[in-house]
Amino acid sequence: MNELDALVESARTGFAQAATPADLENAKARFLGKSGRITELMKGMAALGVGEKKSRGAAINLAKQAIEAALNERRQALLDAELQAQLKAEALDVTLPGRQRGQGGLHPVSLTLERIEAIFGSMGFDVAQGPEIESDWFNFTALNTPEDHPARSMHDTFYVEGGTEAAPNLLRTHTSPMQIRYAVQHVKKHRARVDAAKAKGDTGVAGMPEIRVIAPGRTYRVDSDATHSPMFHQCEGLWVGENVSFKDLKVVFTDFCRTFFESDDLVLRFRPSFFPFTEPSAEIDIQFQQGPLAGRWLEVAGSGQVHPNVVRNMGLDPEHYIGFAFGMGPDRLTMLRYGVNDLRLFFDGDIRFLSQFQ
Ligand code: DAH
Repeated sequence: MNELDALVESARTGFAQAATPADLENAKARFLGKSGRITELMKGMAALGVGEKKSRGAAINLAKQAIEAALNERRQALLDAELQAQLKAEALDVTLPGRQRGQGGLHPVSLTLERIEAIFGSMGFDVAQGPEIESDWFNFTALNTPEDHPARSMHDTFYVEGGTEAAPNLLRTHTSPMQIRYAVQHVKKHRARVDAAKAKGDTGVAGMPEIRVIAPGRTYRVDSDATHSPMFHQCEGLWVGENVSFKDLKVVFTDFCRTFFESDDLVLRFRPSFFPFTEPSAEIDIQFQQGPLAGRWLEVAGSGQVHPNVVRNMGLDPEHYIGFAFGMGPDRLTMLRYGVNDLRLFFDGDIRFLSQFQ
């Protein structure tokens, strides 16, 4: 191998050994740089004669071109390798599951409340919301439970000192205060309509529309175990008119329970009981004919015919208006519907429990 071939060969080896573009530039300098081997060979030609110069120059040029070609080839190879490495490092594994935003859903008790509202809505009941911080008047007194009435002791709750109708002082122990709040507004609106009509000389205004409402919401008591929580839910129901009887209560509530539990053979029992705001009063028990709870009586609501004193506190004459009320526990309905045995699970906020209802 002549000297020039050896030089080309050594350049190839040098380039091949360059592992990075910087190494390659250093290697290039050794062969093609200002004081590199090719430049030295060119300079060495000065001493040669004309004929020799020509052939020697052509040979050196060929060697130079070969070295440049090797250099470019190596440059490209290094660039390709770099690109490959980058692609590999940034590679997407398309088989990985995508990053999703967790999907939320309604709380099981909210699902129950929605269901209750839909069913009673289909029977013509309005849905009303009221304050959780309530006054003594609406929570007790207006509901025929005066101060010192023994029934108050079953409704131990959280109080602040003082408290008036305008400055409520306790956490409501039930949704029953909404009976009074809603009825009073209803009566007021009707009277305003009558007055406005009279002012226009119209005396033939129709009678007051019936009061038909449910009032779901949070309620509070000093109570805590597997079936009681200091904060829980209730849903009140009220239907007052000129001719609303206990029979209507039975029909409406039976219809509701059978629809809610999707069970046509569900049996209801109205068990005599006592509440200050109803007379007569009854606890409502249900009995499934199928499933794990079949045959057992399960209490789901309190109910009764609205007491005349309560009708009076609504702003109505109990000689003309009569109706029924009920109060049920949506938490308990949710437990029965889904087979949950500890009420506290609803309020622990454990995602493993809650996600089962999505
Ligand atoms: N408010 C009662 C309670 O919390 C439940 C209740 C009973 C509501 C009878 C009613 C009713 O409307 O008529 O224990």
